[in-house]
Amino acid sequence: MSEKRRTLLVTSALPYANGPIHLGHLVEYIQTDIWVRFQKLRGHDCVYVCADDAHGTPIMLRAEQEGITPEQLIAAVGQEHQADFSDFHIGFDNYHSTHSQENRELSELIYRRHLEAGHITSRTITQAYDPVKEMFLPDRFIKGECPRCGTADQHGDSCEACGATYAPTELKNPVSVVSGTTPVERESLHYFFKLADFEPLLRAWTSADHVQDEVTNKLNEWFDQGLREWDISRDAPYFGFRIPDTRDKYFYVWLDAPIGYMASFKNLCERSDRDFDTYWSKESKAELYHFIGKDIIYFHTLFWPAMLAGAGMRTPTAVFAHGFLTIDGQKMSKSRGTFIKARTYLDHLNPEYLRYYFAAKLGSGIDDLDLNLEDFVQRVNSDLVGKVVNIASRCAGFINKRFDGVLSDTCSEPGLYAEFTDAGTAIAADFEAREYGHAIRKIMALADRANQYIDANKPWVLAKQEGQELTVQQVCSVGLNLFRVLATYLSPVLPGMARQVELFLDIPAMTWDAVATPLTGHTITPFKPLLTRVEQEKVDAMLEDSKHSLKDSGAGSQPARGPLQDDPIAETINFDDFARVDLRIARIARAEHVDGADKLLRLTLDLGGETRNVFAGIKTAYAPESLEGRLTVMVANLAPRKMRFGVSEGMVLAAGPGGEDLWILNPDDGAQPGMRVK
Ligand code: MSP
Ligand code: ZN
Repeated sequence: MSEKRRTLLVTSALPYANGPIHLGHLVEYIQTDIWVRFQKLRGHDCVYVCADDAHGTPIMLRAEQEGITPEQLIAAVGQEHQADFSDFHIGFDNYHSTHSQENRELSELIYRRHLEAGHITSRTITQAYDPVKEMFLPDRFIKGECPRCGTADQHGDSCEACGATYAPTELKNPVSVVSGTTPVERESLHYFFKLADFEPLLRAWTSADHVQDEVTNKLNEWFDQGLREWDISRDAPYFGFRIPDTRDKYFYVWLDAPIGYMASFKNLCERSDRDFDTYWSKESKAELYHFIGKDIIYFHTLFWPAMLAGAGMRTPTAVFAHGFLTIDGQKMSKSRGTFIKARTYLDHLNPEYLRYYFAAKLGSGIDDLDLNLEDFVQRVNSDLVGKVVNIASRCAGFINKRFDGVLSDTCSEPGLYAEFTDAGTAIAADFEAREYGHAIRKIMALADRANQYIDANKPWVLAKQEGQELTVQQVCSVGLNLFRVLATYLSPVLPGMARQVELFLDIPAMTWDAVATPLTGHTITPFKPLLTRVEQEKVDAMLEDSKHSLKDSGAGSQPARGPLQDDPIAETINFDDFARVDLRIARIARAEHVDGADKLLRLTLDLGGETRNVFAGIKTAYAPESLEGRLTVMVANLAPRKMRFGVSEGMVLAAGPGGEDLWILNPDDGAQPGMRVK
C-alpha cells in the first residue's frame, strides 16, 4: 500500500435510549464497523465513536411509566445496547451518552456562538397542551378521530385507515395519549435556528461531493421548497439540557444529538492522547464521516453542517446514508416474529452469519435491503462454510498429520498466489467505496479458484502414492496460503473468524499488506472448525422467540408495563350513561376486505332478525374468513356514521393495544344473536 496514512473519525447514528437494538439498526452498525475495520486493516488511524441518544419526551415518559428516573432508564438501556453491540463485534473506540457533561458543554458552546452571530431568533407559538399532565404535546402524543373518515384512535398527523394527512388540530375529539384528557391550545415562547442563513454554504457543501447522488437530488428539492426556521426549544417538563439564560426551556433532542458525536470523541480525548481540535477545528485535516439511515438525512446534511459551520467548526467530509431493512420482503412485524431484537438473534445464531449476509447485500446507495431468511441460510452455508472454510479444512489435516504442521519451504504456485494478492487492489477499492457486495463477489470468485486448484491437484489421491509427499505438502501449503489471503480480505466482515484464523495459522494480527508474502516453512496449529453451518431449526426458533419476547415486555429487558400505564382509565361516567349503551350479541354473517383501506373490514352482523353493516378496524388482527360465523358483542344503538367507504351502523367491541394484538369479544356457551349483554 503506497497510500499515505490517513486520519479518520467515523460515527454511526446514535440509537435512542428507549428501546432495544434490532436487526434494522444493525444494518447501520455492521456497515460502519466493516468500513472502520477495513480502514484500520489498511493501516490508517481510524477512530469510531457512538453514543446513546438519551434525551426527549418519549424517554421521559417511558421512565415515568416504569417508575424510575430517566437517568436510571438510560443507564439500563445503555448497558443493554453496549452488550448487544459488543456481541455483534461492533468495535467502537468509544461509546458514550448524549446525557453527559461533555455534551452539555459543547451544546451550550455551539448554541452561544450561533446566538452571538444572530442565527437564533425567538417567537411565541401555539401548541397542543395537556392541562392535566401540564405539558405540551408532540404530535405523536395526540390521538383522535380522522377528520376525513372518522376512524377512531388516529395519530396527530395521518390516518391509518384512509391515508388522509392533516394537522393535529384537525382531529375530531382529540385526546392526549398521556392523560386521556382533551388537549387545549396554549402559547409559549420558542427559539428557532435560522437555517436559511446558511443556504449558500449548504448549497456549496452539497454540490462538492460530500453526499451521495440520490441525496443531492433530495437536497435540491429541499432547497427549492425553501429552508425553514428550525424550532430548537421545548418547554419543561423535558428530559434534556436547559437552554442557557432561560428558566424552563430545553434544547430539542435533535439539537444535542449530533453534538453527541463530538462529545463522545471529546470523552475519548480525555482518556487518551488524542487532540480534540485536530479533528474539529475549521483547519482540521482529519476526515470526518457519518453513517446514517435515510430517514435522518435532513438532520445530517442541512442542520448539522450549518450548526458546525456557524460555530466556526469543520463540516463533515461525507455523510453516507443507507436504506431500510425488510425481512422476507416486508417491514419487520411483531406478529410474524420478524421484529427481531439483536439479543434474540444472538440467543440462536452466530453474529458473523448476519455480518456476512448484510455485507453480501450492501452497496453504496440508499436502497432498502432485504433479509430473506431462506437465502440467508443458503448463502452463508454455501459461501462461508462450503467455499471459504472448506479450503482450510481440506488442507489442514494433511499438514498437521503428515508434516508436523509445517508448511512447505517455498510457494510452488507463485502465479496463482499473485493472482490472489493482485485482486486485493480492486477489493480494497470496493470496500473503500462501500460496495461490499462487489467485494464479496470478488472474494468468492477467488474462493472458487482455490477450491478448483485443490480439486485439480487432489492431495487426498497423492497422499496414497509413494514419493508424492513433497507435492502433498506443497499443494496443501498453497491452499492454506490462499485461504489466509481470503480470510484477510474478509476480516473486516468476519472479525471473529479472523481472530481464530490467526490462532490456527499462528500469525500476528492481520494487516492488508501482510499477505504480500506467503507463509513458508511456517508451523501452524491443529485445525478446529472455524464456522459451522446455519441450521434452519435455529432460524425457526429465533422467529418463534421473537414473537414471544416482544409480547412479554415493552422493549428490551425493561420491566413489563401494564395496560393501565399505557392507557389510563377515562373519566367516570354514571350508571345512566352506561345504561344507554345497548350491547348485543351479534353473529358475524359476512366479513370482507374494503378496497383501499389498510385496517378496515366490512362486517355484516346478524342481530337475530336485523342485520347491520359495520366497518371495524380489525384487519391487522383477523383474516375475514376466520371471522365468519363467530359471535361477538356490538354496540347496537350507536348513531350511524358516514365513512369514506359507506355508512357504519354500530361498533364491535375488541380489546388490545391495536395492530396484530387485537381481540374481538367472543361470547360462547349458549349466546344467541340479538341477546342483550349486561
Ligand atoms: N437517535 C436518532 C439518531 C440521532 S444521530 C445524531 C435515531 N435513532 S434510532 O434508534 O431511531 O435509529 C438509529 C439508526 O438506525 C438510524 O440511522 C436509523 O436510520 C437506523 N435504523 C433504524 N431502523 C432501521 C431499519 N429498520 N433499517 C435500517 N436502518 C434503520 O434515529
Ligand atoms: Zn381516515
